Amino acid sequence: MSDTPIRLALLSGSLRGESLNTKLVTAVAGEIEKQGGVDIDLISLNKLDLPIYDQDIEDREFPESASELKKRLIAADGFLIGSPEYNGSISAALKNAIDWASRPRPDEEPLECFKGKTCGLLAASPGAIGGLRGLRHVRQILTQIQMVVVPQEFALGKAHEAFDDNGQIKDENARKMANNVGHALVKMTRLLKTAE
Ligand SMILES: Cc1cc2nc3c(=O)[nH]c(=O)nc-3n(C[C@H](O)[C@H](O)[C@H](O)COP(=O)(O)O)c2cc1C
Repeated sequence: MSDTPIRLALLSGSLRGESLNTKLVTAVAGEIEKQGGVDIDLISLNKLDLPIYDQDIEDREFPESASELKKRLIAADGFLIGSPEYNGSISAALKNAIDWASRPRPDEEPLECFKGKTCGLLAASPGAIGGLRGLRHVRQILTQIQMVVVPQEFALGKAHEAFDDNGQIKDENARKMANNVGHALVKMTRLLKTAE
C-alpha cells in the first residue's frame, strides 16, 4: 500500500500572483513529493480563466477551460486545496471552479471529478486565525459533493510574514501542522485507491 502511486491535484482558491494560499499548498506539495510515488498537478485557476458559472454559457457551449479543469480533476485521485477566507467563507474563484467541475458531461458518472475522492484542506491569511472559519464552509461543500475530506486541516495565521525566501514556512510547529495535512491526505488517498 505504501508504494501505491497516486496523483494529487493542487488547487489554490486565489487568483493573485503572490497568493499566500498558493505558497502554502506549494510548500506542502514539495514535502509530499519527497515521499515519492506522488504525482502532483498544480492547477492554476488564474491560467484557466474560467467564466463565472452561467447556465446560458453552459447551454451554448461547455467552455474549453471548464473541460480542461474537469479532465485534470478526473485524472486526480485526491486534491490538496489552499482556500483563502473571504468574509468568513470560500472565495468566489474556488466555488466557481467547483461549480463548473460539478456539471455533468456526456459519458461521465455524476460528480465524477469528486465522488469518493480525498481532499486535504489548508488556508492562509494575514489575519491571526489564518482563514480557519472559511474551511468550515469548504468542508461542507466538498462533503456535499461526496468527497472524503481528511479530518486534519491547517490554517496559517500571519501568513504574510510566515514564509522564507525559498517559500518554506519558517515556524517549525506551523510547518509540521501544514505537512501533517499533506501526509494524512497521501495516506488516506493510498488507502482508498488500494481498496478500489
Ligand atoms: C473580499 C475579501 C474578504 C476577505 N475576508 C477575510 C476574512 O474573512 N478573513 C481573513 O482572515 N482574511 C480575509 N481577507 C484577507 C485575505 O485573507 C487576504 O487577502 C489573503 O492574502 C487572501 O489570500 P491569497 O494571499 O491567497 O490571495 C479578505 C480579503 C478579501 C479580498
